[in-house]
Amino acid sequence: MSETGEPQRMLGDPDRQEQLARMIRVDQAGEYGAVRIYQGQLAVLKRNATLKHMEQQEREHLARFNKLMAQHRVRPTLLQPLWHLAGFALGAGTALLGERAAMACTVAVEDVIEEHYGRQEASLGDDQPELKATVQQFRAEEMEHRREAVEQGAEQAAAYPVLYSAISAGTKLAIWLSERI
Ligand SMILES: [Fe+2]
Ligand SMILES: [Fe+2]
Repeated sequence: MSETGEPQRMLGDPDRQEQLARMIRVDQAGEYGAVRIYQGQLAVLKRNATLKHMEQQEREHLARFNKLMAQHRVRPTLLQPLWHLAGFALGAGTALLGERAAMACTVAVEDVIEEHYGRQEASLGDDQPELKATVQQFRAEEMEHRREAVEQGAEQAAAYPVLYSAISAGTKLAIWLSERI
């Protein structure tokens, strides 16, 4: 209920069309943020081949969601300018702490994204085959990023548990906001 006592329709179960729009919107926002994280990390760790490879894949993820967005006539989140800055700052900030911290950032983010894509995968029916296939493919690729980051020493980063939980909480908040705004 709003302050005036009128029921707020937005708080009810969004219909299927709106649900689909939200999914595409939050995924596009996430892939946009991912590209910005790697751009921030590469601004500091210019020659890191693992980061270059991850950035390239995130660009492909973003391009696919930009396409889905146009197909389904979904508007981007209004928070895109915020993710532009926050993504880059998170990337540059972790990279300044060192390569292992940069990799810890990937582990924390990808754990949240894996869960997020997993939930979407489970809720998508066969009426959206392209989106479902995309979510499945990207989920696997994000897990591959996570694995590579662990190989590069993510878990040996200084203050790993603190870094991990802060980034994890931030990513969950970004998802929550991007689904709604
Ligand atoms: Fe991605
Ligand atoms: Fe990724």
